[in-house]
Amino acid sequence: MSGTHTLPNLPYSNNALEPYIIGEIMRLHHDKHHKTYIDALNAAENNYARATTPKERIALQSAIRFNGGGHINHSLFWKNLTPAPDGTHVKSNGGILKDGPLKDAIKRDFGSLEDFIKEFNSTTTAIQGSGWGWLAWNPKTKVLEVVTTPNQDPVLTHVPIIGVDVWEHAYYLQYFNARAAYLEKIWNVINWEEGEKRYNEAVSGSKL
Ligand SMILES: [Fe+2]
Repeated sequence: MSGTHTLPNLPYSNNALEPYIIGEIMRLHHDKHHKTYIDALNAAENNYARATTPKERIALQSAIRFNGGGHINHSLFWKNLTPAPDGTHVKSNGGILKDGPLKDAIKRDFGSLEDFIKEFNSTTTAIQGSGWGWLAWNPKTKVLEVVTTPNQDPVLTHVPIIGVDVWEHAYYLQYFNARAAYLEKIWNVINWEEGEKRYNEAVSGSKL
C-alpha cells in the first residue's frame, strides 16, 4: 500500500518541553514541518505507484528518500523527547538515565554519560548544513556509536537509539544560530526510557 502515511500525535503538549524547547517550535515543527514531509511522501508514493516506466520511478526516488526519511526521523524524534520533571510534570523522567542496560552500555562504549554527551554534541554541532545526530547501535560490532546523517537521511547501517534533529527549524526560534546551545539543553528532555527500550530491542535482534 502506498501514500497513506499520517501525522502521529505528539505524546505531550506543545509547551511540555519548556523551557528547553519552546511550544512555538514544537507546534511548527510537528504541525507544519513533519506534516509537509508526510504529504510529500504520500504524493511521491502515489505517483510511484502510477509510474509506468523505470525513468518515471527513478525520478521519484529522491523525493521518497527525503520525505520518507523526514517522516521516519521525526516520528522517532517526538518519542525521543519527554518533559523534564517539574511542578507540572511531577512523574516525568526527561533527562534521567536510570541504572540499567543502556547506561551500562554507554559507560562501556564512551566512558560515562558526560563523555558520551560531549562527543555527541561536538560531532553533531559540526554537521554541515542540515542533518541529524544519533546515538546508534552498530549491529556488526555490537557497540554504541555517535553517527550523523545529512539532510533527512535515516540511519540505515545502525539501529537508532536516540536521534536529535539539528535542522535550524528545530531550534532557531529560541536559540537562533546557536546550535551548540540547543544541544546543551536538549539533554534535559531526552527520553532515556524510550532509548533503553530501543536499545534492548536492538541487542535482542528486533528490526527497528
Ligand atoms: Fe525537523
